[in-house]
Amino acid sequence: MGERVTVGVLVSGRGSNLQSIIDAVEEGRLDARVTVVLSDREDAFGLERAKKHGIAAAWVDPSPCGSREEYDRALVVRLREADVELVVLAGFMRILGPPFVKSFKNRIMNIHPALLPSFPGLHVQAKALEHGARFSGCTVHFVDAGVDTGPIIIQACVPVLDGDTEESLSERILRQEHRIYPRAIQLYAEGRIKIKGRRVFVERSGDENDRASLINPPLGR
Ligand code: GRF
Repeated sequence: MGERVTVGVLVSGRGSNLQSIIDAVEEGRLDARVTVVLSDREDAFGLERAKKHGIAAAWVDPSPCGSREEYDRALVVRLREADVELVVLAGFMRILGPPFVKSFKNRIMNIHPALLPSFPGLHVQAKALEHGARFSGCTVHFVDAGVDTGPIIIQACVPVLDGDTEESLSERILRQEHRIYPRAIQLYAEGRIKIKGRRVFVERSGDENDRASLINPPLGR
C-alpha cells in the first residue's frame, strides 16, 4: 500500500465516532492519518479528543460567514491546508452545500444512525422505535447534494427489542457505528471501493456475507 489516506473529520458534539477512528488508527486497524478535526461548535468535545491525541483541532466559527456557501468555503480552505483527501463527517450537524460536495466529490463520508433509506434526518432512533421497526442500525454512506441520500458503503443491522427506549436503542446502534466507520474508511484506504451510480462495490469481498440474513423475532427451530 502507498501513503496513508489523509482524513479530516468534522464534528459538532461528543465525538465518539471520531474516537473510534483515532483508536483504530492507533491500534493499526486503520491505515489513515487524521490531519485535522474541525467543528462548527466551540464547545464540541470532539475537539478535546483530537487535541488529546496530538491532532490539530479547530473551531471554525460560522457566525462571521454571511452565507452557508461562505462557511463551506472556509471549511474547504482549512481542509485543503491540512492536505485532506477524505472528509469524514462524525456527528456534524450542518448540511454541506453543493460547492463543498463538488470540492470533495465522492470523498466525503457520513455515518447515520438508521438503516437508510429508512429514517433520514434527525432523531431517527426514536422514529424507528415509534414506527415499530424490527430492525434499525447504522449506515456509512458517501455524501451527495441531498440529506442522507448518497451511495451506501456499509451498514450494520441492530434488532429493536421489546424493552427498548430511545436511549437503549441509540446505545446499541452506536456500538455498531464504532465498528463500521473505521472499517468503511479502511476499505477506502485500501482502494477497494468503486461507485457505480447509486451502488457501491467493494472489491474482493463479494462472497463474505452472501448467505447472511437476519430475522427478528428469530424463527427458532
Ligand atoms: C451519531 O449517532 C452519528 O450516527 C450521528 O451523530 C451521532 C454522533 O455521535 N450522525 P458522536 O459525536 O460521534 O458521538
